[in-house]
Amino acid sequence: MRAVDIIAKKRDGLELSPEEIHWFIQSYVKDEIPDYQTAALLMAIYLRGMNTQETIALTMAMAHSGETLSFKEILPFTVDKHSTGGVGDKTTLALTPAVSALGLPVAKMSGRALGHTGGTLDKLESIPGFRADLTPEQFRRQAREVGLVVASQTAQLAPADGKLYALRDATATVGSLPLIASSIMSKKLAGGADAILLDVKVGHGSFMKTLDEAVALAELMVDIGRSQGRRMAAVLTDMHQPLGRAVGNALELREALETLHGAGPEDFRTLVITLAGHMLTLAGITATVDEGKEKTAQVLWDGSALNKFRQFIIAQGGDPAYVDEPDRLPKAQYIETVPAPRDGYIAELNAMEVGLTSAVLGAGRAKKGDPVDHAVGIVLHAKIGDKVHAGDPLFAIHASRPEHIPMARERMLAAYKWSEVPATPPPLIYRSIT
Ligand code: URA
Repeated sequence: MRAVDIIAKKRDGLELSPEEIHWFIQSYVKDEIPDYQTAALLMAIYLRGMNTQETIALTMAMAHSGETLSFKEILPFTVDKHSTGGVGDKTTLALTPAVSALGLPVAKMSGRALGHTGGTLDKLESIPGFRADLTPEQFRRQAREVGLVVASQTAQLAPADGKLYALRDATATVGSLPLIASSIMSKKLAGGADAILLDVKVGHGSFMKTLDEAVALAELMVDIGRSQGRRMAAVLTDMHQPLGRAVGNALELREALETLHGAGPEDFRTLVITLAGHMLTLAGITATVDEGKEKTAQVLWDGSALNKFRQFIIAQGGDPAYVDEPDRLPKAQYIETVPAPRDGYIAELNAMEVGLTSAVLGAGRAKKGDPVDHAVGIVLHAKIGDKVHAGDPLFAIHASRPEHIPMARERMLAAYKWSEVPATPPPLIYRSIT
């Protein structure tokens, strides 16, 4: 086969065969096809699209480009959860200990902050001593003994995705349905879970800006997973505004801990309970999502989810004193609460802007490998639908450098849009695909 023929075929809108797709991906991973030809194929896919069969073939070629995990001998059934990425999305931190406390083991690979979105591992690393780089043996032992492990993805898992993603980032080909679906699902399938729950975000703070686009992505990923015999479900959830009130690493961990201590913001708690209900049902632990939700509310309330989180933190080297006393978590040196400039109702709160502001304060990364500042971020005092009076606290900026505060204040004030008349908040959950 020749790379140029495959590129030409896709450029002309024709269907690629599974053999062509596998050959291309394997050759690219072995450095036998250069970046410029792969970039051309990515652009052809971006412009011409791929049908479901081609997307499944691309996903499987990527999933098999490195090692694949299996928990078959150590755990009867595992469920993984994936969020397509959002602002203030600390769901994994409260969801995984809750389902684990209900007898569903979670062995999860997570990512780090990039762009406007935060990363679960950066949030967990706000706890001194916490280690995310486990060996495969440590990962498996902890899954078996604690029933909860969250570690960094090894470079050996779906290496084609890492290489292709870097190229997509540099060639304006990230926002393509088959490329996003195959990127996410190749890692999830290589991760070895028997069932996968997808939290597909909708809104300007996420990849998918409209409900139709998000439904198309969710359905495609569900089809890919089912084609490989995995149990799949997807929930479409809002990302027009940030989830919860805290955005930033330690701030978000603190909010997740509040939820594990039985409190926390209503929207975050509802999302955690809903997603947990789906995970428990996928695993067959509960007969219905509603039953799973009830059981989850119980373990958040009675301390068993918090207890599981504590065991997990200890197992990965973290200091449990920070779990019991979240006040010890890193705090920003400068905290400025910004008052509302006027009376009115909050009509919009641009999640993307809030995420970018938090990233510029130091919570995120400009490029892979940059350090993050665990202490900084934004706390929202008002969200969409709230009635606010001039002078009421609108949001707080947590900064490590005072010179960042005017920039953050200006960006955040612009992220809020006001209305004279009552505004309806967007729904938290749009629909689910089960
Ligand atoms: N997340 C991924 O892992 N890949 C994409 O392409 C987009 C979001």
